[in-house]
Amino acid sequence: MTKRELITQVAARTGLTKRSVGRCLDGLLGSLKHSIAQGRSVKLRGFGQFRVIRVRAKSQSRDGQENTGQESGKVVLKARYRLRFRPGQSLVWLGESRAKPLSSNAEISKVLIENNISGGTMNDTSEAQDQTQEEASFQGLDVGTSRIVLASGTFNNIKTQTQLNAFVTVPYSKFTENILKQNKIPYQLNGSKELVIFGNESEKFANSFNVEARRPMYNGLLNPNEANGWLVIQSIIELLVKKSKKQEMICFSVPGAPRGGEANLVYHEGMIKNYLQSLGYSAKSVNEGLAVVFAELEKDNFTGIGISCGGGMCNVCLAFMSVPVFSFSISKAGDYIDTAVAAVTSEVPTRIRVIKEESLDLSRQPKDKYENAMHIYYEEMILTLVEALRSEISESRNLPKLDRPIPIVISGGTAKPKGFIDKFDKIFKQNDFPIKVSEVRISDEPLTATARGCYIAAAYEA
Ligand SMILES: Nc1ncnc2c1ncn2[C@@H]1O[C@H](COP(=O)(O)OP(=O)(O)O)[C@@H](O)[C@H]1O
Ligand SMILES: [Mg+2]
Repeated sequence: MTKRELITQVAARTGLTKRSVGRCLDGLLGSLKHSIAQGRSVKLRGFGQFRVIRVRAKSQSRDGQENTGQESGKVVLKARYRLRFRPGQSLVWLGESRAKPLSSNAEISKVLIENNISGGTMNDTSEAQDQTQEEASFQGLDVGTSRIVLASGTFNNIKTQTQLNAFVTVPYSKFTENILKQNKIPYQLNGSKELVIFGNESEKFANSFNVEARRPMYNGLLNPNEANGWLVIQSIIELLVKKSKKQEMICFSVPGAPRGGEANLVYHEGMIKNYLQSLGYSAKSVNEGLAVVFAELEKDNFTGIGISCGGGMCNVCLAFMSVPVFSFSISKAGDYIDTAVAAVTSEVPTRIRVIKEESLDLSRQPKDKYENAMHIYYEEMILTLVEALRSEISESRNLPKLDRPIPIVISGGTAKPKGFIDKFDKIFKQNDFPIKVSEVRISDEPLTATARGCYIAAAYEA
């Protein structure tokens, strides 16, 4: 894009005259150059950071050989400067390879040299930077009400590991503790009274003792009524995330604020962030719906609607070129369906969840009272979700101009039953939608989309 085109676009977006935009742009570039020329880095929150790095002056003998000592005839070369640009989270490089966001260094160096910026030679460090980028390790952590999922590995081969975000307690005895140890079952001691068994093993214990596994989170956030909750979450995170000495980047998911309501997101986010930092990471939160956009909508330039239908809530985000336009959550999701169906069929929610996960098929007629109720509550959840999305778009004041229809992608365990997408599509098409939608589809891997999206966010953040 040329400067002239940029001015035209900004004028169209802001309603300012091209003349005013031109003056602002000149002022902006002037200030940028001035700061960089003085060796000062420029940080534009959400966009990225220009960093000026000074490379130590080298001494050289007159014959051009590098000096090792204090021989006479030595000349000192000017200190050199390198300029690096590090894209921020909301600026995802839309180039061919995700591993090359920093190759823009060469371009920036060229611009600065052409503009006669003082302070030494600008070096193209893109090659070295690319290597660092590829070697760097980052991780994405989906902290969900039902499950905690870690994404790690490399860009071309992202790996995921999952632990149930649940626990059971059994009375303490030395004997039981030894059995747990021998079987390598992770547990924590709660004083000398109880053994807390958490993560994937908790389900086995809950089934064997015929008790309900408990949850450290409720509706997407730390459950203040669960005394062991925080201890359990830390223990599960530690099963997945190893301690780091290198301040590696990790992004973790947080829910959006409930539509039309307040939630104590700040506390939830702060606790997890602090804990990950205590494990030696640079930690940053990512909205769960946005994480779905990162994971699923690369081909659409990260433009579209990401939805995660989990246990505690459905999270939604509309993003334009990776920048979130709005996000919100509704608290009807898998747990709501389990509880509501249990209430009208005189069953316990755990039993309903098992039936739902093992055999629910929303594409065929319900065959018993359980399925009947599940169909009804699934439809009700989808209707609430679609209506909330419709209202949010209609009320949004900063909706970008969309020049083409955008996709909707849905992930999360609640979107897994066969026939879910057809039900969604049917309800979606019942009424007009305020923006044009190109397709509605399910993520290829609905249970790991959020973690993979967090991984991608961490990679761009690092
Ligand atoms: N195959 C399945 N069919 C229907 N529901 C499922 C299936 N697998 C998981 N779920 C439901 O998905 C929800 C958990 O989804 P998940 O994305 O893991 O949630 P969270 O983000 O809350 O951790 C639970 O309500 C669970 O019962
Ligand atoms: Mg989730």
